[in-house]
Amino acid sequence: MNNRSATPVLSVRNLTRQYQSGESVLNVLLSANLDIYPGEVVGLIGPSGSGKSSLLHAAGLLETPTAGEVWIKGQECLRLKDDARTRIRREEVGFVYQFHHLLREFNAIDNVALPQMAAGVPQTLARKEAARLLTVMGLAERMEHQPGQMSGGEQQRVAIARAMSNKPSIILADEPTGNLDPTTSGNVFQSLFDLTRTEGVSALVATHNMTLTDYMDRVVTVRDGAIVPYS
Ligand SMILES: Nc1ncnc2c1ncn2[C@@H]1O[C@H](COP(=O)(O)OP(=O)(O)OP(=O)(O)O)[C@@H](O)[C@H]1O
Ligand SMILES: [Mg+2]
Repeated sequence: MNNRSATPVLSVRNLTRQYQSGESVLNVLLSANLDIYPGEVVGLIGPSGSGKSSLLHAAGLLETPTAGEVWIKGQECLRLKDDARTRIRREEVGFVYQFHHLLREFNAIDNVALPQMAAGVPQTLARKEAARLLTVMGLAERMEHQPGQMSGGEQQRVAIARAMSNKPSIILADEPTGNLDPTTSGNVFQSLFDLTRTEGVSALVATHNMTLTDYMDRVVTVRDGAIVPYS
């Protein structure tokens, strides 16, 4: 599902990311462009070191690139003041990492409720929404479990529910199933995919796992610093 006549949820324009390495400059991204439309799930494939995380970090406003523009829902974000940019990142972007970074001393429902409460949602409503998302993720029986009392795949599904909890416009996922076995990885990805569909959220998902590209609307890769269709 996607809507190419709509304003893109995410537009990366002429994005350049250089790293200084000794005397030389490494051009990881070089005037890269990418548009992601409402409801699209886009795969980001490429070998280790090709720039996937660099792109996700810049697109998600976690890092300032060397040059270029990042537009989220029609607003250019890199020129904004820090607090405005932080607000857009919190409200519009959900991150899923390879390692889930759940809070170990809190159970699943609290892990998904806390980001909402930090954004001002009352506890009762936040927990209700957390329970709904965890149920969609197939974790209705695991809501009271702490991360240490869940399997790796279950923990990662909690992390996906948490990324969805503030109703972002886009999910940016960096190897979300990178440390899971192939079957669990497929199941977790199916859950992520289902959730983007039911919630109408777009996603950009970096992965090494080619079998997961079956779930994507399209797949891109980084080549010579540019973002190009993967074929
Ligand atoms: N802070 C940094 N300083 C210098 N070089 C860096 C820095 N961060 C990343 N790089 C280099 O930039 C390139 C792209 O890194 P990036 O993490 O974006 O790759 P990736 O595609 O996510 O790789 P992987 O699949 O291994 O996660 C790599 O060659 C890396 O060594
Ligand atoms: Mg990476």
